[in-house]
Amino acid sequence: MPSNRGVVYLGPGKVEVQSIDYPKLANPKGKPIEHGVILKVVSTNICGSDQHMVRGRTTAPKGLVLGHEITGEIVEKGKDVEFLDVGDLVTVPFNVACGRCRTCREQQTGVCLNVNEGRAGGAYGYVDMGGWVGGQAEYVMVPYADFNLIRFPDKAQAMEKILDLTMLSDILPTGFHGAVSAGVGVGSTVYVAGAGPVGLAAAASAHVLGAAVVMVGDMNKERLAHAKSVGFEPIDLTKSDKLEELIAAVVGVPEVDASVDAVGFEARGHGAQHSTEAPATVLNSLMAVTRAAGAIGIPGLYVTEDPGSKDEAARHGNLRMRFGLGWAKSHRFYTGQTPVLRYNRQLMQAILHGRLPIAKVVNATVISLDEAPRGYHEFDTGVARKFVIDPNGMLKKKAA
Ligand SMILES: NC(=O)c1ccc[n+]([C@@H]2O[C@H](COP(=O)([O-])OP(=O)(O)OC[C@H]3O[C@@H](n4cnc5c(N)ncnc54)[C@H](O)[C@@H]3O)[C@@H](O)[C@H]2O)c1
Ligand SMILES: [Zn+2]
Ligand SMILES: [Zn+2]
Repeated sequence: MPSNRGVVYLGPGKVEVQSIDYPKLANPKGKPIEHGVILKVVSTNICGSDQHMVRGRTTAPKGLVLGHEITGEIVEKGKDVEFLDVGDLVTVPFNVACGRCRTCREQQTGVCLNVNEGRAGGAYGYVDMGGWVGGQAEYVMVPYADFNLIRFPDKAQAMEKILDLTMLSDILPTGFHGAVSAGVGVGSTVYVAGAGPVGLAAAASAHVLGAAVVMVGDMNKERLAHAKSVGFEPIDLTKSDKLEELIAAVVGVPEVDASVDAVGFEARGHGAQHSTEAPATVLNSLMAVTRAAGAIGIPGLYVTEDPGSKDEAARHGNLRMRFGLGWAKSHRFYTGQTPVLRYNRQLMQAILHGRLPIAKVVNATVISLDEAPRGYHEFDTGVARKFVIDPNGMLKKKAA
C-alpha cells in the first residue's frame, strides 16, 4: 500500500503537510463500501471556503485534512462501480452525493440527505459536511463514484487543459450557478460582489451567458486590476459607500438586472468602512442595486456559527439584513452550496471547445504539495491568484 500525505488544519492560521492514512473504501464511520474509488490526485485547488476555516471563522476541528476541489486518476475501484475504470481521469464535484435521495433526484446534490448525519449536504475536507477526508493530498477516496464522477473523454486532451478543467470541481460551476440563479441572460447588466476566484468565475460565466456588461466590485486593488485585465469593469468599493453611484458611473443608471454575492459572511463595509467587517454589507447593497423583480445569486458562504465574529449576533449567523427592501422589490434570493453536477458536464464542453479560458481568468498558479502552507498564506493576503496544488508532480511533468 502506498503512503499518503495531505494538508492538515492545525488551528487558526496554521496548516501543515503531514503523513496521513492511505484511503480505504469505507465511509467516515469505517463501514466498508463498494461504490467508491480511490484517486491519485492530479490537481486540487485552495478555495476561499478553506480560508474561512483556516482563519478560525468556523468550528472546524484541528486535524482536519483539507481539500474539496479535486481532479484525479482512478487507481482502485469497489466491486459495485460499473461504469468507470482504473486509469480514468475524472473531475470530482466538491459535493458528496448519494444519487438516490429525494434532493439528489431533484439535482440538488449540494444538500444530499444521506451523506452527513448532522445536516443535509456533504463535502470532502470540510467542517460539518459529513467527515469525508479531504483531497489536498496524494490520494483520496470518492464514494458513489458512478454518480459523482465525470470522466474526461480524452486523457491527453484533458491534460492539455488541466488548469481549466481543475476549476470544474467547484469555482466554475459555483460562479455559473451564481450567474444563472441571478437570472443573467443576453443583454443583462450584471454586478458581481467580490473579485476573488469565485467572483471572477461568476463574471466569466455571465459573459458566456450573454451579459452586456459585467462589473466586479472589491476593495483589493490588485484583484481589481486583474479583473480589468481579463475583461470586466472594476468597481473600487473604497471610493464610496453608495454602490448605486459607482454603478451609475458605468451604466448610467443606479441599478443592474442581476447581481451575485461572491463574498459571503466575512464581507467588509464600503467606502470609509472598507477595512471593517460588516457581514450584511453585500446582501444589503445587492438589494439596493438589483432592479425590481430581479434576482440575487448568493454563492458567497454564510455560516450558522462564526466563533471569530466581533458581533454577538453574527457569532450565531444572525445578520443585520434589510430584508424589507428585497421584499418590497420582489427579489428572488438563491443561496446554498452549488449543485456542481447540474453544470459541470456543460462547462467541461465549453472548456474543451475553447469557450471558457477560466484558468487565465482566475490566474491559476501551480504549486507543489509542500508549498501548500505558503499558498494558503499568500491567498489570504489577497493576491490575484487561484492556487492549484500538484501533489503527485503530474502537472510539473506535463509542463516539462
Ligand atoms: N456556494 C458554494 O458552493 C461555494 C463554493 C465555493 C466558494 N464559495 C464561497 O464564495 C466566496 C468567495 O470565494 P473566493 O474563493 O472567491 O474567496 P476570496 O476570499 O478569495 O474572495 C472574496 C473577495 O471578496 C472581497 N470583499 C470583501 N468584502 C467585500 C464587499 N463588501 N464587496 C465586494 N467584495 C468584497 C475580498 O476583498 C476578496 O477579494 C466565499 O465565501 C466562499 O466560501 C461558495
Ligand atoms: Zn471550493
Ligand atoms: Zn442524495
